[in-house]
Amino acid sequence: MISLQTRLRLAIGGAVLVAVSVSLLVGAYLVRRSLERAAFSGLQRQVGLLAHEDVRPAPGQFGRFLATQDERLSVLPKQQARLLLPDSPTGRIAINERDYLYATQDIGPDVVVLLRTASSVRSESKPFWVALGAAGGIGCLLAVALAAMLGRSIARPVLRVARASRQLAEGSQPEALPVVGASELRGLSESFNTMAGQLTRARDAERSFLLSVSHELKTPLTAIRGYSEALDEGVFTPERAVKVIRIEAARLERLIADLINLARLDQQRFDIYPDTVDLVEIARESAARHAARARDLGVRIQLEQGRCASARADPDRLLQVVSNLIENALRCTPRGGTVTLATAAGELKVKDTGPGLASDDIPHAFDRFFLYRRYNNERPVGTGLGLAIVRELAQAMGGEARVAASPTGTEFTISLPLPKTRDQLDALHAFTAS
Ligand SMILES: Nc1ncnc2c1ncn2[C@@H]1O[C@H](COP(=O)(O)OP(=O)(O)OP(=O)(O)O)[C@@H](O)[C@H]1O
Ligand SMILES: [Mg+2]
Repeated sequence: MISLQTRLRLAIGGAVLVAVSVSLLVGAYLVRRSLERAAFSGLQRQVGLLAHEDVRPAPGQFGRFLATQDERLSVLPKQQARLLLPDSPTGRIAINERDYLYATQDIGPDVVVLLRTASSVRSESKPFWVALGAAGGIGCLLAVALAAMLGRSIARPVLRVARASRQLAEGSQPEALPVVGASELRGLSESFNTMAGQLTRARDAERSFLLSVSHELKTPLTAIRGYSEALDEGVFTPERAVKVIRIEAARLERLIADLINLARLDQQRFDIYPDTVDLVEIARESAARHAARARDLGVRIQLEQGRCASARADPDRLLQVVSNLIENALRCTPRGGTVTLATAAGELKVKDTGPGLASDDIPHAFDRFFLYRRYNNERPVGTGLGLAIVRELAQAMGGEARVAASPTGTEFTISLPLPKTRDQLDALHAFTAS
């Protein structure tokens, strides 16, 4: 298959060569004509001079007087000249199979005839033909160079787009294309860059959501496994274990629905269904969820309840948030330590008696993999995704996640919007009813 660049080079080179050839042919025709005209007018001038000279030859046959290798001069009676020569005072004539150019001048009853061999005229014009040939050769070389340059400059941006598209199709992120050249090529590069950016963002969002959902599947599974083991060992009553297992199975179902929606490409982040939630209830459920694991690790989970602790949030998603924080706290707190869940209006805190975080960790604590990379070698770590999911979910519910730490422990705070007051609800109902 011929490449675009070769095609363009052939097309441009061919077009320029045709143009150069046509110009050369026209040029050659015009040069030939003007050389012949110059030769005839030279002959005419010469014969005119000779006609008035005293050295004029006597009338006689062609070539009897003043014959040189290339020229012959004769004086003929008009009658004879009319028989031998065409009517015109200048022209071409063949004598003994040799071509001549001639010019005539009447002098009384005679005609002076000057003949010049066509070959001598041709040899005089040789330098013109050489110059014309050289110009043609240079023209052809320029045509080839121009075709190569133009072919390359037009094909290069297209080839760049083709290469970048291939990279994009293979799943890698191509570098942004330079926006240069003619307006059409600039437009092509710009559109490609926009498309590649959108595709990469969509792909990243999908990958990130897939990671988050898969990550969140761990928590209910761990709770189900912990409770079933504890049930086996007879640590918890069957009623308590079955209740937790049933709730966790329902949560697994919601996460699997997230995965199905992701596969259908109509969801790229956790969906949120806000409701008025009781944070004390959420804290209690979270503690129950992790009770089996806390017992294994020898860490106590305690609840510190405020008076009014309602907020507006999606209860399942909030449970995901608190679970992530409790999981971290349990993993990082030494045996014998305590994890405290404190609630207040629109606020839920997870405090522990673990090793804490350095002050310069605080601004980046919720960045994906930041703390994971930092403490990978000195603390038990998971996959490094949990805190990023905590922040994403807290923000999606209209709240925020914060952290404060000291060498004696860490305190994560989730702030959430407060539920609408009775007055606000009444106003809302009145508005929607009107
Ligand atoms: N309460 C805490 N006390 C001390 N260090 C913590 C605490 N919470 C988190 N960290 C540190 O921050 C790191 C990142 O936490 P994050 O929840 O983002 O990921 P992870 O727990 O390592 O893995 P994952 O949650 O994805 O299973 C943890 O590995 C841990 O080193
Ligand atoms: Mg974690």
